[in-house]
Amino acid sequence: KENQQSSAKDKEKGLNSHTANGEDQFLTTNQGARINDDQNTLKAGQRGPSIMEDFHFREKMTHFDHERIPERVVHARGAGAHGYFEAYENMGEYTKAGFLQEAGTQTPVFVRFSTVAGSKGSTDLARDVRGFAVKFYTQEGNFDLVGNNMPVFFIQDAVKFPDLIHSVKPEPHNGIPQAASAHDTFWDFISLMPESTHMVMWVMSDRAIPRSFSMMEGFGIHTFRFINSEGKPHFVKFHWKPKLGVNSVTWDEAQKISGNDPDFLRRDLWQSIEDGNYPEFELGVQLVSEEDEHKFDFDLLDPTKIIPEELVPVKIIGKMVLNRNPANFFAETEQVAFHPGHLVPGIDFSNDPLLQGRLFSYTDTQLIRLGGPNFHEIPINRPVTPVHNNQRDGHMRQTINAGQSSYHPNQTGGGCPFQAAMHEGGYAHYAEPVSGNKTKERSKSFHDHYSQAKLFYNSQTEVEKKHIANALKFELGKVSMPAIQERMIAQLQEVDMDLADEVAKHIGVETPVKLDNELNQSIPADGNPEDFQSGPA
Ligand code: HEM
Repeated sequence: KENQQSSAKDKEKGLNSHTANGEDQFLTTNQGARINDDQNTLKAGQRGPSIMEDFHFREKMTHFDHERIPERVVHARGAGAHGYFEAYENMGEYTKAGFLQEAGTQTPVFVRFSTVAGSKGSTDLARDVRGFAVKFYTQEGNFDLVGNNMPVFFIQDAVKFPDLIHSVKPEPHNGIPQAASAHDTFWDFISLMPESTHMVMWVMSDRAIPRSFSMMEGFGIHTFRFINSEGKPHFVKFHWKPKLGVNSVTWDEAQKISGNDPDFLRRDLWQSIEDGNYPEFELGVQLVSEEDEHKFDFDLLDPTKIIPEELVPVKIIGKMVLNRNPANFFAETEQVAFHPGHLVPGIDFSNDPLLQGRLFSYTDTQLIRLGGPNFHEIPINRPVTPVHNNQRDGHMRQTINAGQSSYHPNQTGGGCPFQAAMHEGGYAHYAEPVSGNKTKERSKSFHDHYSQAKLFYNSQTEVEKKHIANALKFELGKVSMPAIQERMIAQLQEVDMDLADEVAKHIGVETPVKLDNELNQSIPADGNPEDFQSGPA
């Protein structure tokens, strides 16, 4: 426990040891030579041409020319904060994860909140999903809980992710619109994707325009597994509950704020921490025994479904306090690399096909975003535990690995690490039995796309329902193709007839919509990709 509690300090110290402060120091080149003139280039005579041998000018300009790295392909705009997580109780019955074994154990965290679709310079208050990514620097290595502020997702299978994102990004021919909403391509895709209906109801709700990052819930979305020290598994869903409650702005406010202060949410996060009003969230879990896996009328592996809290209550197991702003936005918020596959012993995956696909995507994109295989050495990404392995070399390698050998097994010794047994904290994957034929077919248990969309809509207050209707009227009113509008109204009819009627009337579509052209008939009601035909609407 002492170790755990000192690790927040260790993480801060680790970051500090890489921090430079130039106050009262001489200006130097990167090679450490002092500079005597930073205002004029070296020239042949006072009015003469510049001279290449001005190494200071060349170095300064070259570095500037290379200052930018690619923005994240999604979640490009974000704001980060440091803090700690504190466990409320011993969760040993369910998980052996060290940071959840004792009340009071503190673990340092770094959090990045983000929008999804907009570019790095876009507005904070676009109607969009918000990323809610938490890196726990535990004594057993980094655990990343890479979630969103909505508990479900648009698609059931990761292979659709590039299409989803292409549809929501600015249109490829003209780069318009930059806002994360209100365009043909997004609604075209959504109208052909019945499995998105539940998520779309969330995105049209006030949840998509939060008042503050500290007033949002967070969700791990996928079902994960907890594994206890006897190897017994439980399915688990993760929830973050904000101490300040869930609050949103209205659409009209969002529009005005976006114009006046596109940094509204990041400023709010920064300022509340500067003022000592530390954002707090409680961590909750929904636990389901393996025996109960099939007792629901939806599939636990389907990321477009929640487990209603009436069926499985959320057990609160700890809290997170964000109490320190980053020292440097680029070094920390921009260079942090989250990954849903960064797990510690006691936490494991489920077979959710969206989660499985994510496991490939994050490292792959970070290899290009952060310039090669050594981004785990960037201070913000380093665990507080020692790192030893035979992964070597590559661009920008910082660690100087001593010794003769870099392979395993070996007898020469020579600086080589050895494997940990399970009782020594070695990570062992849960031995889930698997069988079946290889297939692209989706399980029938993933085919109900509307029950939970209805459930969500019906859970809203009258005012919230009004906001959803207004959002749909605004969004679908901007769509230029009647066929897309009609398909969307047909989807809404599956959720609520009155809602569909109200929106249809506003955008000039006759209800009830009966889809009868070839493309519309091909909407895959069962979500099976083989049934899906794309073609001119
Ligand atoms: C980034 C969440 C689905 C690919 C992120 C980030 C979050 C997130 C919070 C931002 C991380 C940061 O702040 O640095 C989610 C959630 C998903 C989901 C909750 C679904 C439940 C997917 C899928 C893929 C994907 C299906 C691809 C198969 C990416 C990529 C990044 C990213 C490439 C950028 C990572 C980087 O450059 O550091 N995601 N995502 N995501 N996500 Fe996802």
